[in-house]
Amino acid sequence: MRLHGKRALITGGSDGIGLAIAEAFVREGAGVLIVGRDAGKLETARDTLTGEAKGGDTVETLSADLAASAGIDAVAAHISQSGRPLDVLVNNAGVAYFVPFEAVSEEEFQQSFALNVTAAFFLTQRLLPHLGGSASVINISSYFANKMIPKRPSSLYSLSKGAMNSLTKSLAFELGPHGIRVNAIAPGTVDTAMRRKSIVTLPQQAQDDLTAYVERSYPLGRIGRPSDIAGMAVYLASDEAAWTSGAIFAVDGGYTAG
Ligand SMILES: NC(=O)c1ccc[n+]([C@@H]2O[C@H](COP(=O)([O-])OP(=O)(O)OC[C@H]3O[C@@H](n4cnc5c(N)ncnc54)[C@H](OP(=O)(O)O)[C@@H]3O)[C@@H](O)[C@H]2O)c1
Repeated sequence: MRLHGKRALITGGSDGIGLAIAEAFVREGAGVLIVGRDAGKLETARDTLTGEAKGGDTVETLSADLAASAGIDAVAAHISQSGRPLDVLVNNAGVAYFVPFEAVSEEEFQQSFALNVTAAFFLTQRLLPHLGGSASVINISSYFANKMIPKRPSSLYSLSKGAMNSLTKSLAFELGPHGIRVNAIAPGTVDTAMRRKSIVTLPQQAQDDLTAYVERSYPLGRIGRPSDIAGMAVYLASDEAAWTSGAIFAVDGGYTAG
């Protein structure tokens, strides 16, 4: 097992990409703590993960809103009280607003940054004393940091993921001397609740056009499944990636190659 004995915290681990990463980590022998807001979703995820866990590995859940500093405090207190170091931190929880630039409200801007940027920044900072000497921080970014989709207004989302990429590279430099590796995964479009929620409000024609465009654009002929992202996360969490830091890994069916 590639993650035997490691302890990982996955934000947004109750659904979508975060849950798929948690499942893969547990299969590879890690103990996981998943964080999300909805206690019911966390319970369902815990049942799924406990079914995957090999004997002795722990599956913990914690309900916290990471877009608020109280939520970050709660996670930091939980880790501190447990008295056990953390080997892997996955900053995955995120929100996507696809709003035309001229219509983005200050509230949407603040909410987007609170979760996509501030939470990743301060959660990592607060957990630093608990990250073991060869810990791995994995940030879940997006292709939208660098590549856009026609008629898909992404200024706010792209800005937040661009910030996450900069954070990844700068932290790799700052934390490298402490033995901590920091990398990001930039997924392509993945079929999750977030993706479905972001298109359901579009007129039917726009949904059809977007779906056709996306399918046409992927060299591998389909959008992603949450499990498509998990393999890269396992690699980055494992000792196989001992000399890998400061990189943004595209896992996107080839989309950004074009
Ligand atoms: N899906 C895509 O096409 C795609 C593509 C590229 C990048 N990404 C990125 O991948 C990451 C995961 O996306 P996803 O599609 O898997 O999303 P998802 O299916 O909507 O899952 C989001 C997870 O984050 C949790 N969450 C949301 N807001 C939170 C908050 N304020 N505090 C704590 N937890 C919160 C959710 O649980 P609760 O709702 O219960 O809090 C859930 O567990 C995001 O950073 C996203 O930007 C997604």
